[in-house]
Amino acid sequence: MFDVIIRDASLRFKNHCVFENLNLILKGGKWTCLLGGSGVGKTCLLRLIAGLPAGETTGEILCQDGFPVSHRIAWMAQQDLLLPWFSVLENITLGQRLRRSFTDIVKRHPLIPPEVEDQAMSILEKVGLTEKARVLPQHLSGGQRQRAALARTLMENRPLVLMDEPFGALDAITRLNLQDLACELLENRTVLLITHDPLEALRLGHDVYHLRGYPARLTDAITPPGKTPRSLEDNGIMMLQGKLLDRLRHESFDEKPVKGEQ
Ligand SMILES: Nc1ncnc2c1ncn2[C@@H]1O[C@H](COP(=O)(O)OP(=O)(O)O)[C@@H](O)[C@H]1O
Ligand SMILES: [Mg+2]
Repeated sequence: MFDVIIRDASLRFKNHCVFENLNLILKGGKWTCLLGGSGVGKTCLLRLIAGLPAGETTGEILCQDGFPVSHRIAWMAQQDLLLPWFSVLENITLGQRLRRSFTDIVKRHPLIPPEVEDQAMSILEKVGLTEKARVLPQHLSGGQRQRAALARTLMENRPLVLMDEPFGALDAITRLNLQDLACELLENRTVLLITHDPLEALRLGHDVYHLRGYPARLTDAITPPGKTPRSLEDNGIMMLQGKLLDRLRHESFDEKPVKGEQ
């Protein structure tokens, strides 16, 4: 598994500098979690890594093995982005269906080839959605929809997974369950998880960073001990959560840019 190196990344919208000279290493096969207040630049950084930047950017995204990062990324967002007119099975195989070859289309091969369907069903079993394969997304709960989104991410089977607050809209219990499931199923992938929730970052992250300030900078990494997903009964994690919450709370009062200073 390869490290992903973000070197001297800068992003600017006209006279607003979101971040500059930002350096970060996503360790191969590990989870890096990124905390930060609203508007600090978390999604922008994720988009920059994915090769979808808005604004003026500089810097490099390098893979340790020398191959380009494009085509090696799966993306999971807070909105599940399930298409309402497709069943769960059709949604999670969308990537494969869109990439069908011209010959398959001309020869009218089935939209979902049997081997793809088998793979999809085995992933749906892992996320506990076997019974929902033929159902439209509107019949799923919020947690089930996000499990379907996780299944779609797994179908893509990419080594680097970028997650933008994927569990942010879920209730506390569903969120904990999804965290455990994602941790199990994305083991050994290189994951960058953006979250507002210090506890989520501390349960799942091998390295936890905090992006703060205007322009934004990364704090030093926190490397919580122990195997992930870490237990809620771990006193050390709970203390760290308190400290991070305090920091995030003060940041929202202290570090907003003064108008005209951006
Ligand atoms: N397309 C855009 N045009 C202008 N400003 C943008 C654009 N996208 C994001 N921004 C600004 O960049 C900053 C960081 O945004 P974002 O990365 O979405 O924040 P967050 O940390 O909440 O994910 C915000 O101030 C936002 O207003
Ligand atoms: Mg965001």
